[in-house]
Amino acid sequence: MAKITKDISGALFPTPVVLVTTVDTAGKPNIITLAWVGIVCSNPFTLSVAIRPSRYSHALLEAVPELVVNVPTKEIVASTDYCGTVSGRSIDKFAACGFTAIPADEVRAPLIQECPINLECRVTNTLSLGTHDVFISQVAKVHVDEGLVDESGKVDHSRVAPFVYLDMDYWTLAEKIGRYGYSKKG
Ligand SMILES: Cc1cc2nc3c(=O)[nH]c(=O)nc-3n(C[C@H](O)[C@H](O)[C@H](O)COP(=O)(O)O)c2cc1C
Repeated sequence: MAKITKDISGALFPTPVVLVTTVDTAGKPNIITLAWVGIVCSNPFTLSVAIRPSRYSHALLEAVPELVVNVPTKEIVASTDYCGTVSGRSIDKFAACGFTAIPADEVRAPLIQECPINLECRVTNTLSLGTHDVFISQVAKVHVDEGLVDESGKVDHSRVAPFVYLDMDYWTLAEKIGRYGYSKKG
């Protein structure tokens, strides 16, 4: 098939959708929905978190460089969308969404109880790339709902009900089609 060139930002897809919690210097928490996030290092386990300077969460992270990356499920997709459309400058998103804040162990930002996986992180570097600043965030602790862990101690992802972001839409994941290394012959 012939190729055409196209100028679209959605060409690398899908991306995760996460709810990132931060706090102000008085400890009041906020939530921001982010899709421009990823794993950038295994050891130390490190994430990239890209946030526009105009976001309230950006100012909060500059003041308190600690965050929790909370992984939502499809049950809370509407609240996830909502947290990405209003600002914590004027709205208490925990109250508006009925979310429960649980104190983290290592950082001042709280976990969101309604999210089954929570990664506590400390910002180690910030890169200004253009529209977004990237907060390089080292993971200090990971929490998982105990009901999601199988007998061997591994997370059973079939119990998580995750969703992803694809060209402005939210999609669930339909089926497993392979496992790391399964194609290697011999
Ligand atoms: C699905 C989705 C993904 C988003 N991804 C990002 C992102 O990666 N970076 C960013 O700066 N804003 C992103 N946003 C926009 C912010 O979530 C939005 O501007 C939010 O209201 C900012 O909240 P705050 O002012 O309380 O920090 C996204 C919004 C949605 C709905």
